[in-house]
Amino acid sequence: MVSISRPETTARPRTRHKMYALRVATRAAGRVAATGTLQPTRAAVGLVRLPLRGVVTSIPKARGRDQDLEISAKGQGGEVRMQAAAAGIADVTMKHDESMLKLSWSTGGTDTYPYVWLRDNCQCPLCFHSGSRSRVHLIEDLDLNARPRSAKVLGGQAVEVQWSDGHVSRYEASWLLPRAFQSAENYIRKPSYKLTPHPWGSELMEDLPRASFPEMMSDDAALLKWSQQLEIFGFVMVSGAPAEPGQVRRLAERIAFIKKTHYGEDFTVIVKDDPSNVAYLSGPLQLHADLPYYQYKPGVQFIHCIKQYEGNGGDSQVTDGLHAANLLRENHPQKYRILTSTPVDWFDEGSDEVGEFLKILQLPMICTDSYGDVCRINFSQPQRDSFFDIPAEDVAAWYDAMKTFHRLLADPKNCLHFKMTPGTIMTFDNLRILHGRTAYLSGYSARHIEGCYVDWDEVRSRRHVLEKKLGVNSRRLVRKEE
Ligand code: OGA
Ligand code: ZN
Ligand code: ZN
Repeated sequence: MVSISRPETTARPRTRHKMYALRVATRAAGRVAATGTLQPTRAAVGLVRLPLRGVVTSIPKARGRDQDLEISAKGQGGEVRMQAAAAGIADVTMKHDESMLKLSWSTGGTDTYPYVWLRDNCQCPLCFHSGSRSRVHLIEDLDLNARPRSAKVLGGQAVEVQWSDGHVSRYEASWLLPRAFQSAENYIRKPSYKLTPHPWGSELMEDLPRASFPEMMSDDAALLKWSQQLEIFGFVMVSGAPAEPGQVRRLAERIAFIKKTHYGEDFTVIVKDDPSNVAYLSGPLQLHADLPYYQYKPGVQFIHCIKQYEGNGGDSQVTDGLHAANLLRENHPQKYRILTSTPVDWFDEGSDEVGEFLKILQLPMICTDSYGDVCRINFSQPQRDSFFDIPAEDVAAWYDAMKTFHRLLADPKNCLHFKMTPGTIMTFDNLRILHGRTAYLSGYSARHIEGCYVDWDEVRSRRHVLEKKLGVNSRRLVRKEE
């Protein structure tokens, strides 16, 4: 049984973000799971569509047979899929002409599973080592033409397949259901382990994604919510941290562990003699992403304000590189093409506490992945090298494209501007978000910032672990409307 309510839509009516509350209850045995995005209603898996873009929190209130799951989600106009993975198997048919096994679910609907995939994913101890959750059968033994001699339903909750070579495999309904394949006509190619990003402009300031430091440190649900918001919006303002050194390390170690760079593990941004980085001057720090010269660029960045400059200056600027890249692609496609395809030399040379370094990396300013999605923005006026390894004829057009991109990034319609107060920690996606700082009057003790990085692999892994622990499954199966 699934019911939906939206009791909080009256809150903050002026903002685009609305809080929704969603209640899902299922009386069947099995896990209740919530998943992140866009799923048409399919009775087989008890799916619900909601006008939301991303699930933020989902916590089962009670465990056992009477599952009761409460979700509050925050988003703008996207959709959320709920999956009550409690369906049983009503019937199984062998489709030898398609080399697929067809399952009918007790709640309605069917799914088909290729024979070769089923054989490859046999869960028996000869084929799969459950302790390490790893496939162990030998590839050379996998018969591409494997086909079942028989297939039968066991008590509505599993399928037993006897293969033509006599091998027997058993697949649980609760295992098969979340692994259901897309049909070719409904398939949308999207990474299924990521939350869909929501690009934003300066309207984000009206309802900034926020988290409480004490809650994140003590409450797994708060940590999960932070990690989900970070993945969706790329930025979460954390408040309530002690205004003293050591807090970014505490936070990083609560999540996973610090990503060390040649500036150390946690670094202090104050005015320094003979600085190794322009951040250690008191001048303006133009919009930038840190460490563009790292192949493995640290993904998530923390900036903790311990002491703020009390005069005019030391303000923060934050802008969504994904949003600006989208605007560039829509309005200046040729410039987008230039910035996504022209290699730029990123560079840093000097010495800091971990010794001498000389980093060089060539990557476009806007990097896209095999899905065609923007996956990394490199932008740093100080760390862009004077070496530029492209034909002379292409240089002027690249500068022109870069200036247009910068205008979009810095446009007040897109860029947030605020002054951090002591005890706040900006947490943001260093692959997507650009940040900057206005100048302040020089003085060794005028302002004190501490920062560090954690890799996205670790943050996302932590989200997955917490989601599993709290009974939420955000692994997406994105399908087109049926
Ligand atoms: C940095 C940085 C911001 C600040 O050190 O890379 O962006 O507010 N600092 O000093
Ligand atoms: Zn086996
Ligand atoms: Zn920076």
